[in-house]
Amino acid sequence: MSTLKTIVTSFIRLLGCYSYIFHWNDRSYKVFTPLGSVSKNAELRGNKKALLSDFWKEHVIEVSSSPLILAMRKGDPVLMEKVERAEEFINHKLQIILSKPGKKASSAYNFNRLYELCVFGLNEDLLKLSEQLLSSFHLPVTASHGDLHINNMILVTNEIKLIDWSMYNPDGSFVNDYIHFYNYLETLKENQSWTVSILKEHEYLKQLAKQLQTTDTLLKLSYAMSRINGEIGQYSSLRLIPKKQINKYNNVLFQLVTLIERRKCLA
Ligand SMILES: Nc1ncnc2c1ncn2[C@@H]1O[C@H](COP(=O)(O)OP(=O)(O)O)[C@@H](O)[C@H]1O
Ligand SMILES: [Mg+2]
Repeated sequence: MSTLKTIVTSFIRLLGCYSYIFHWNDRSYKVFTPLGSVSKNAELRGNKKALLSDFWKEHVIEVSSSPLILAMRKGDPVLMEKVERAEEFINHKLQIILSKPGKKASSAYNFNRLYELCVFGLNEDLLKLSEQLLSSFHLPVTASHGDLHINNMILVTNEIKLIDWSMYNPDGSFVNDYIHFYNYLETLKENQSWTVSILKEHEYLKQLAKQLQTTDTLLKLSYAMSRINGEIGQYSSLRLIPKKQINKYNNVLFQLVTLIERRKCLA
């Protein structure tokens, strides 16, 4: 019975998340399977909201919607040979936000939904501790793209524009986007999950922590929470999230919280 349930759940998940891109003349089309309408609506919503945000509007490739399809202008993907161009973009955006006022890092995530995940295996003590730690420092106020990495960057008339706004978070922070950009490159290089890459020592994170007057480990925790928050937001029902994925969340939170507490003791 439980094997059948696993098969059915996996099948629903596959259908629910699937989308295909095809290009025709100067347009790109993202076609969603019928159960992918949740992702499609999230992407359309995020795209519209980002167009209203002063911080993001000039970088959005606007989508138009018809049933199960999002259509947009076609550009050229930013390939790895142009990674420096992408870094320039991301560092320019960082300079802009450094002068912005701060907000508690914990306000960037939907903790109500995160606590609901405890019913499905997310460790509640770890989540509580993480929430406390994330209310102990500030992040500059901006919205976040939510999935800002090189494969979501497109060159249009030689300017970097962004696609794939399904994880857009008006209450998020660009700081988490900045970390995701670099951590994603690391996941590509090492072919590993973000939950593993983020645990390593990273010079860019140390620099960022200095600029934000916090620590790299707290920034790692903030990033981890933003990924978890964004990824679970992609599911129409929390019960569809694979147990393996929730175990990864528990592991990364455990490692980071332990490291932060240990460093506090040493300080
Ligand atoms: N407007 C576009 N112009 C050119 N290439 C695109 C465009 N939209 C998507 N692509 C290509 O398709 C890939 C996947 O698109 P994306 O919307 O990010 O889908 P997914 O949700 O699978 O990540 C992108 O990494 C890019 O290479
Ligand atoms: Mg994408």
